[in-house]
Amino acid sequence: MKLNLLKDIIMFELWTEKYRPKKLDDIVGQEDTTKRLKAFISKGSIPNLLFAGIQGSGKTSTALALVNEIFGNTENFIELNASDERGIDTVRIKIKDFARTRPIGEGSFKIILLDEAEALTKDAQQALRRTMENYSETCRFILDCNYSSKLIEPIQSRCVVFRFKPLKKDYIKKYLEKIEKGEELKIEEDAIEAIFKECGGDLRRATNILQACASMNKEISENSVLEVVGKAKGRDIEELLKLAIAGKFLESRKKLYNLMIEQGISPDDLLKQIHSRIFELEIDDNEKLRIIKLLADYEFRVVEGSNPLIQVEAFLASLSK
Ligand SMILES: Nc1ncnc2c1ncn2[C@@H]1O[C@H](COP(=O)(O)OP(=O)(O)O)[C@@H](O)[C@H]1O
Ligand SMILES: [Mg+2]
Repeated sequence: MKLNLLKDIIMFELWTEKYRPKKLDDIVGQEDTTKRLKAFISKGSIPNLLFAGIQGSGKTSTALALVNEIFGNTENFIELNASDERGIDTVRIKIKDFARTRPIGEGSFKIILLDEAEALTKDAQQALRRTMENYSETCRFILDCNYSSKLIEPIQSRCVVFRFKPLKKDYIKKYLEKIEKGEELKIEEDAIEAIFKECGGDLRRATNILQACASMNKEISENSVLEVVGKAKGRDIEELLKLAIAGKFLESRKKLYNLMIEQGISPDDLLKQIHSRIFELEIDDNEKLRIIKLLADYEFRVVEGSNPLIQVEAFLASLSK
């Protein structure tokens, strides 16, 4: 028993690392990018690259796969994360130290991957730009960022830009199914749907939600996903609203407390969740418009600093006619 627990702790690893693709061919949904990158590989050299796109769309994985395919190893490669190593000194010291020494072995250049490059201060970006110029013979940069516009123009113009798209549902589904197989899980169709809705094309978030669910139960249902992400079910939200509209205020209030206590949903979150689901609910269209207008008022009051619970209750009260 104890041994098993120990094994669990030692064996613990993040699925985002365990299932990270090793080759460019395993990167999904970014075909234009991988095709263009392969053309560079076949020439044996790359320019400076800028990977722009949302979190969890495969930027870091693509950079790692690219390095592996060019060098076959990672001797001439370092990865830095600009948001942990913020500031001008890191760029000056770490990057420069790595860039100024000659490549090891056969390689004719080195590669520096700078994750979350937009976290660098403007001064650090200026220093980076000078380093890019000074060591252009022996060193290539891959900059990874959410928005390329957050980088100073001279850096942008020194890089070939690749845009990473949020991943479509099919890719997310296939990827989750691969993990399902690898980890011997059982994921219900509804659960995949719920994960997709929550992650918005971010495969890292999708994987993390799945791992959190699986840590509780290997059979994963829509409910376990909603619990992990702290969301109410559409059905519960619908019931809450219908009770209020029907003038059954006390019952709707009870439902509200139930959602808060049993499902851990905060009242201000609930307002947002009602908003995001309202057009999926089976409620009369005119009623939906009325709800949206009321929501806007109450949400505003919460943002202005009013007590969220009192505001949600008042919202429910004002729904009844
Ligand atoms: N396009 C993709 N193809 C395959 N796996 C992906 C893709 N995008 C994200 N992933 C998976 O999601 C996780 C995060 O990917 P990562 O490359 O670090 O994203 P980013 O750098 O864009 O934030 C990894 O586990 C990776 O396996
Ligand atoms: Mg990244």
